Amino acid sequence: MSEGGDLYDDRHIAFLEALWGEGYLSPGGAAEVARVLAELDLSGMAALDIGCGSGGITVALARDYGAGRVTGIDVEVPVCAAARRRAEAAGLSDRVEIVQVEPGPLPFHDGAFDLVFSKDSIVHIPDKEALARDVFRVLKPGGVFAASDWLIGHDGPPSPEMEAYLKAEALDFGMASPARYKAALQAAGFESVTVTDRNPWYREVARAELARLEGPERATFESALGPEEIARQILTWKAMIVVLDKGEHRPSHLRARKPG
Ligand SMILES: C[S@@+](CC[C@H](N)C(=O)[O-])C[C@H]1O[C@@H](n2cnc3c(N)ncnc32)[C@H](O)[C@@H]1O
Repeated sequence: MSEGGDLYDDRHIAFLEALWGEGYLSPGGAAEVARVLAELDLSGMAALDIGCGSGGITVALARDYGAGRVTGIDVEVPVCAAARRRAEAAGLSDRVEIVQVEPGPLPFHDGAFDLVFSKDSIVHIPDKEALARDVFRVLKPGGVFAASDWLIGHDGPPSPEMEAYLKAEALDFGMASPARYKAALQAAGFESVTVTDRNPWYREVARAELARLEGPERATFESALGPEEIARQILTWKAMIVVLDKGEHRPSHLRARKPG
């Protein structure tokens, strides 16, 4: 995506980091990342972070989880710049590389990674079947795909409430159901495919986020994005809570293993 057309520009990065924490452009912070990576030992691994955003998690994979080499990819210029600055500030530029990519096939050779990670980014990639095949290709035998993503609860057309939320969100979301993700990963050759529903967790968290947006911190958020945009974000959160409560918006964790 070209500069100017960026959905996650510097103002949005500042807003989302004020809400979700320094280096995080998705909810849940370090604790939620730990749940995505539960029971995995990343020591010395080569890891890919798809949709690295401003790089808080990309850096954590090397610094806190002991990955030997982490490649963070993203399609947008400002987030890649922020992630590079973060890796440098952490003294990890030798182990963390940030690559700006075009949407489409992953620009890496077969079997390049032990772990492919992603946090709430592949919602922006509509062709889940092609993505599953490509993630399988770039993993070594025995490698693991561990991700969090925003799913839709069913394979039918979005409800009017979901349409309203997607319109309010104004992001290029391409949401898939748990069944579609599972089938895509299995068809690509993955085994031990699991989809873990995080809807009950995010229903609670989203309410707390809305309370913060409307509460005493509102001025802080407004200083990042301006009062009009924060008013729009509040409407978006309200629309999101409707579809979370219906179970139609279904944040989930995905886990799959490439046979060894
Ligand atoms: C909600 S943010 C999450 C960022 C980061 N994973 C985090 O949790 O802080 C989604 C990110 O996905 C990126 N993105 C969108 N389309 C992408 C694509 N085709 N390939 C890689 N990243 C993409 C966006 O630019 C954005 O930085």
